[in-house]
Order: sequence, then structure tokens, then C-alpha cells
Amino acid sequence: MIQFQNVNKSYGNKKILDDLSLEIRDGEFAVLIGPSGCGKTTTLKLINRLIEQDNGKITIDGRDISEENTVELRRRIGYVIQQIGLFPNMTVEQNISIVPKLLKYPKEKCDEIVHSLLKLVEMPYEEYAHKYPAELSGGQQQRIGVLRALAASPPIVLMDEPFGALDPITRELLQEETRRIQKKLKKTIVFVTHDMDEALRLADTILFMQEGKLVQAASPEEMLRNPANDLIRSFMGRHMESANGTAKLLAEDFMRTRVLKVPETMHTLECIEMMRQRDVNTLVVLHEDDTYAGTVSIETIRKHGQAGREIRELISDEAMTISRKEDARAAFDQLLASSLQYLVVLNEDGTVAGLITRTSMAKAMGEALWGELTS
Ligand SMILES: Nc1ncnc2c1ncn2[C@@H]1O[C@H](COP(=O)(O)OP(=O)(O)O)[C@@H](O)[C@H]1O
Ligand SMILES: [Mg+2]
Repeated sequence: MIQFQNVNKSYGNKKILDDLSLEIRDGEFAVLIGPSGCGKTTTLKLINRLIEQDNGKITIDGRDISEENTVELRRRIGYVIQQIGLFPNMTVEQNISIVPKLLKYPKEKCDEIVHSLLKLVEMPYEEYAHKYPAELSGGQQQRIGVLRALAASPPIVLMDEPFGALDPITRELLQEETRRIQKKLKKTIVFVTHDMDEALRLADTILFMQEGKLVQAASPEEMLRNPANDLIRSFMGRHMESANGTAKLLAEDFMRTRVLKVPETMHTLECIEMMRQRDVNTLVVLHEDDTYAGTVSIETIRKHGQAGREIRELISDEAMTISRKEDARAAFDQLLASSLQYLVVLNEDGTVAGLITRTSMAKAMGEALWGELTS
């Protein structure tokens, strides 16, 4: 367990940490979040003694860290920052081996660590071990950075906005991977972010800091349900609102996105075959630039379809469209007031985002009321 007891830290006459007390249990994924400058990085650096507090006590497993040898201490604590700082003139294997070598593990043990860690993140040894950082993508470099922190298996890993500079897709992959590794190896992770999405996705416990103080420590669910103050509420933003069902719901919240879309030049027979295979009775037809052209129902094809004709000849302009950002209320009104079976939801560029059907609407309302439905 990591414990802060009344910890204070100032720079000059500026108080950075103000009587901070907190606890992080073994094997816990703890996420420190709060506005920029609230003291998250400072808190993290105190744990591995990159800086020292002015007063108050920090213990790990009951031992006061100020009485420990810092080199020993840091061997038990992995550290990942945004600029991961892989050594550019060392291979992936050498980068991962730094800590095990420092710990003076025998060569076989070092090799074993490198192999097992690369396996863990699905980067085959043969392919990656001998590459240099510059030969890897940003996401792969960060993966190696995370690996290096886990190498030699320190029980505690500190991570300071490690994925801040990555694109959203790589970021999500690494979040999942980190969570998976943490669960598997039962690490204690202290993770800093200012992104509530990330915190909600990763944390067992979210520690919300404000002006050098801990304002709330709670599970994601609990924090969503009972945010301690307005700042936390605003950080929760849309999550918060959807938990209470008071958010402004948009058309996009009610659409289904799996829609059969075909180019307008497709032949009728082919369209029928696709509809049969996918078991749908409506087609969305697109212009050549992927913008919405219209819809065609199976009834229309039955009545008017002829082999060899292009599907665009059968487009009816009965379907109504709605922009995905439009108020869901408008979608309801349109759908309920008409005899239409569905509305076509469009993206801002005129391409098709999805369809709102009576079924998709009912399902989304059910989920809002009772949470995720099973099917
Ligand atoms: N070495 C330093 N000297 C002076 N002020 C510092 C130093 N390090 C951090 N600070 C100040 O302490 C405050 C908290 O910093 P930090 O812990 O990095 O915040 P966070 O990570 O939450 O954004 C900021 O106002 C920052 O400017
Ligand atoms: Mg910081």
C-alpha cells in the first residue's frame, strides 16, 4: 500500500500540495486526475523520490520512503512518462534489458524477461527485438516504453500521461493493453491523466485532485453517481449526464450504424441478393462520392424492379433525413407523426451515419433506462 499522510510541498511561497493524504492499495489501478497544475505530476514524483516533500509522511507497505535508499526504491517502481525516452542507439531488446541488467540478473533471466514481455504485447521477438526505436511507430515505441517500465516486474508502476501524444486509436489499444497486463501481473499502477474518458476506462479508483488537495477518491461508478463538487461534475461531462438521463440526447444516440449501403449504379438483381444475405428490407443508396442518394425498399423492388436496371431508378424520396447532431426529440416527432419506418441519419458532409428505426429507438431508450441491454 502506498500512503500519503498530510504531505505538503511548496515552490517558493507557492503551495503545490496542501496537506495531501491518500491511499493506494496493492494491485489497484489508481488514476490521478484533475485540472492542469493541480499537483498530479508532483504527487507522482514524490512516490519515487524524484522530489522530496517539505513535510508529512509517505509510506510504501508501512515503510517511510524517506528512510530508504533511492536506488533501491526506484528499482521497485517503474516509471513511464509521455516522452518515453527510449535510447535511440539501443535496440528494443537492449532498451527493455536496462533495468534487469541494473538489477544484475544473469543473462538467461534477462533474455527470458525480454522474450516474455514482447510476447505479452504481441510484438514477436524475431521481428522486433533487434529494431531501433526510429524503426517503430509512435504507438510501438510507447508500447516498448510501457514494457520497459514493467520489465523486471516492479510491483509498482507510475505512469504520467503516458498516452497523451498518441492518436486516439493507438491510445485506446495501449489503454486496453496496459489494463490487461496490470490485471495479469497484479501490478499497483498510479496513472496520471487529465482525460476523464481515460480515467473511467482504466481506474479501479479515481483520485480527483484540485489545488494540491484530494477532493474525492471513488470508483468510476461511484464518482459518476455522486461527484463531490461542480468541478468533478464538469470533468464527467457527458458521462455524468447520460448516467442521470438528463443529457440532451441527439439523433446519433438512437441510430443503428449497421446499414446496407450500395452505390447507385449497382444492378437490381445484385441488390436483392445482398438484401437476402443480410436479411434487411431496406437499402441506402449512395452517390459516387458516398453522399446520400435515397432509399429503396424490398417492396419497391418487387413491384418495379427489372433485371439489368440500376438501383438508382428505383429510389423513392419518401425517406426523411435528419442530421446526426440534431435533437433526438425532432427525430421522435418525425418518426411518430408519420407512417415512415425509419429516418436516415446524415453526417455533416452528407454521407450516411445510420438509420433510426422504431426498433433502434426503443432499444436506445431501454438502454438509457436500464443500462446496456444484452442483445
Ligand atoms: N520545479 C518547480 N519549480 C516551481 N514550480 C513548479 C515546479 N514543478 C512544478 N511546479 C508548479 O507546481 C504546480 C503543479 O505542477 P504539476 O504537479 O506538474 O501539475 P499537474 O501535473 O497536475 O499539471 C504548477 O503550478 C507548476 O507550475
Ligand atoms: Mg503533469
